[in-house]
Amino acid sequence: MALHIQTASGDPTTAAVDLIAVLVTEGGLDKQKVVADLDRALGGALLENAKLAEFTGKPDQSLDLPTMGRLKARRVLLLGVGAKRAHEPARLRAAAATAARAAQGAKAKSLGFALPVEGIDLRVIAEGIGLGAYRFTKYMTGDRLPKAELKDVKLFVHKQAQADKAAIDIGLKIAEAICLTRDAVNEPPNELNPEALARIARGLAKKHGMGIKVLDKKGIAAAGMKLHYAVAQGSANEPRFIHLSYVPKKPKKKLVFVGKGLTFDSGGLCIKPAPGMGEMKSDMSGAGVVLGLMAAVAALRPNVEVHGIVGAAENMPDAEAYRPGDIFGSLDGKTVEIVNTDAEGRLVLADALTYASRLNPDLLVDAATLTGACMVALGKTCSGFYSVEDKHARELEAAAKEAGEQFWRMPLIEDMREQLKSDVADLKHTADRWGGSISAALFLREFVGKAPWIHCDIAGPVLGDAAKGTYPKGATGHAVLTFLKMIEHAAR
Ligand code: BES
Ligand code: MN
Ligand code: ZN
Repeated sequence: MALHIQTASGDPTTAAVDLIAVLVTEGGLDKQKVVADLDRALGGALLENAKLAEFTGKPDQSLDLPTMGRLKARRVLLLGVGAKRAHEPARLRAAAATAARAAQGAKAKSLGFALPVEGIDLRVIAEGIGLGAYRFTKYMTGDRLPKAELKDVKLFVHKQAQADKAAIDIGLKIAEAICLTRDAVNEPPNELNPEALARIARGLAKKHGMGIKVLDKKGIAAAGMKLHYAVAQGSANEPRFIHLSYVPKKPKKKLVFVGKGLTFDSGGLCIKPAPGMGEMKSDMSGAGVVLGLMAAVAALRPNVEVHGIVGAAENMPDAEAYRPGDIFGSLDGKTVEIVNTDAEGRLVLADALTYASRLNPDLLVDAATLTGACMVALGKTCSGFYSVEDKHARELEAAAKEAGEQFWRMPLIEDMREQLKSDVADLKHTADRWGGSISAALFLREFVGKAPWIHCDIAGPVLGDAAKGTYPKGATGHAVLTFLKMIEHAAR
């Protein structure tokens, strides 16, 4: 990300930038000096247009005007942040992202961003700008390539401070880490196979001096990860098990994150219908989250031990593919009867969770695009999560609020455990179709040993239908920031 952000004082109105964006608090339109200055320079057109468009500074409102040569900037953009919650990190981050996205859309190379609200954390603003400027253009050529790229951002603040530069720097690095997740999810499945995920992990380990262990197909078999192995049987792209570790000297806590890394989920022999199958390139989003998270951890260097674990495989139909009716052992020792080869994620996760629980974490968190049922329950913009203990649920909820991401707690309904009983093995891996997200969570719970555990079904929000707040269309990077906040809270 060749994005440069610096603070500035003085008059944003005269700044030599392509686009000027101004945060406007609700009802602050005629009180904010920047707005008055801009309005004067535009001969009264700003306030007149605000009135016509009924722009009052409500959250999510925006007003975009051309300057017709009256300013150095080509356009002016007002962004509403509301009244009561105008200072909340999530809202400011989202507004900054909207400004950066608008700049990209207007082919602006430079952006002046006026922050009339005092006491704003510039890390949050830098995160938003880095996230909003994101585009995935790797596979575009010629005319499809963007004509300009946002390079320079000036933040007009009340008071410049010593700490500004460090805050901006860390914010940009966190955004970059989340964009690593997005890139991995947007990458097509013919390019991003399990070994490619391992390659990303090795790159991170090398760059940041983190520990790494990668098991290939043989290694997965030798380790006894029989469920992971079974899922991968039908693919020419061999599976990988990935373990990244960040271990500071005297850590306060040990957190372990596990991600589902299905680089493509065709459904296997229980093959999925064609419409929407291409979306299953995003079935490695949990893995993407774990890798992005480890990159962010490496940048932030919190005093918490963090492990990132990925079970990577491709689910394909083939002569060697696993079948309904098969029975396999697991790393935990329990045997599992296969019912539907499209419920592959919980199998890969089962072995990864057993491995992770053996690290004796203070908290074990998994993220997986696990069930369509979770999307039916909560829609496409909210993750479902399951926590055995209320305490950990509250920790996740607090983190999600700061991150501005939507997570809703789901119940582990004990009666449903019955449905996972098999006539021929210890467990079967699917239940009936009602409460499909819950039965998946109950299945995973069988494999976490004694570890305090949270399961996040992120199937909905990992892809966006349209850009909104910090999320672009396509891969969003959802969950990275929430998990990072959990880690930061654990360091306190
Ligand atoms: N990766 C899918 C879940 C999914 C579906 C994510 C749609 C995002 C969008 C998962 O492997 C799957 O196929 N789950 C099945 C489970 C069923 C066979 C018990 C599902 O949800 O239909
Ligand atoms: Mn599936
Ligand atoms: Zn899947």
